[in-house]
Amino acid sequence: MDIADTRKCNVWNLKRLADFFGADQAILESYYQEILEDVSFLQEINNRLKTVRQEFGFTKGIFNRESVDSADWFAFERVLLYVLVRHFRPRAVLETGVYYGGNTAFLLAALERNGLGKLVSIDLPDSTIRTTQEGTAARHPLVGETEFYEPKMKPGFIVPEYLKKHWEFVEGDSISTIPTRAEKFDLYLHDSDHSMDFLTAEAEAAWPKLAQDAVVVVDDIDWSNGFFALCVSKKLCPVLFTDNGKDNLRVRTGLVKLDHPRNLDPAFVG
Ligand SMILES: C[S@@+](CC[C@H](N)C(=O)[O-])C[C@H]1O[C@@H](n2cnc3c(N)ncnc32)[C@H](O)[C@@H]1O
Repeated sequence: MDIADTRKCNVWNLKRLADFFGADQAILESYYQEILEDVSFLQEINNRLKTVRQEFGFTKGIFNRESVDSADWFAFERVLLYVLVRHFRPRAVLETGVYYGGNTAFLLAALERNGLGKLVSIDLPDSTIRTTQEGTAARHPLVGETEFYEPKMKPGFIVPEYLKKHWEFVEGDSISTIPTRAEKFDLYLHDSDHSMDFLTAEAEAAWPKLAQDAVVVVDDIDWSNGFFALCVSKKLCPVLFTDNGKDNLRVRTGLVKLDHPRNLDPAFVG
C-alpha cells in the first residue's frame, strides 16, 4: 500500500474517532495535518534514526530507513495518540511499554504543542526483558526477539531531545510501578506485555490511578482476549481501529473512554 492510501486509512480512522466522541472531524483532521507539517519533529526523528543506526548499528523496523519524509511512515496508533492528546489536553499521561519510543515521541510532540501536561512512561531495561521471559506473567509468544536491542541503549531511543522536558521515564515493571504513582492519569496507553494475564493485571493496577473521564488505549488487541475481557468486566463500550495498511490492515488498537455515554447504552450493556 502506498503512502497516499495510508493517509486515506488514517483519515477514515479519524472519522470513526470523531463519530465515537461526537467530535468535529475537521478539528481532529487538523491535528493530524499539524503533525504532518511539523518539520522540526520530522527532522529530529530523522536525526535519531541516523544516530542510532551509526552508533549502535540498530536497523530493525523503521531504523532500516535512511530517513522518513512523512509522519505517515509510522503506524496509525501514533497519529491517534497525537490527536487524542491535542483534543483532550491531558495533564497526565501514562504509557507502559516504550521500546524505541515511537508512541512516546508522538505523545510528547502533542504535549509540547499543548504547552501543558506530562508523560510518565514505564518500561523494563532490556537486560531484564532478556532474563525474565518467565517473569510476573509469561510473555506472549509473538514477542520473540523483536524487542531486543543493545543493552547500552535506553528505552525511547527515537525520542527527540527537545521533547524530553515533558517526559518522566521510570525503569521498572509496570504492574508494581503504577501503584506507586501519585497522579490521576487522563490518558492511559497499554503497550507493554500483551498476554491476557498481564494486561488484566496491569489494567487493575492502573484503574485506581485513572481520572473519571480518562481515555484508555490498548495496543495489539488481537494478541489475546485481554482487551475484550476488560471491556466486559468494566462495562465499557469500545471503538476499534485498524492499522493504516503499510504492513497490513489488522484490527490492532482498542480505545475506551470511562465516562462515554455509550457505556450505559442498553443495546450494548444488554
Ligand atoms: C511492543 S513494545 C512497545 C513499543 C513502543 N510502544 C513503541 O511505540 O515503540 C513492548 C515493550 O513492553 C515492555 N515490557 C514488557 N514487559 C513489561 C513490564 N512488565 N513492565 C514494563 N514494560 C514491559 C518491553 O520491554 C517492550 O519495550
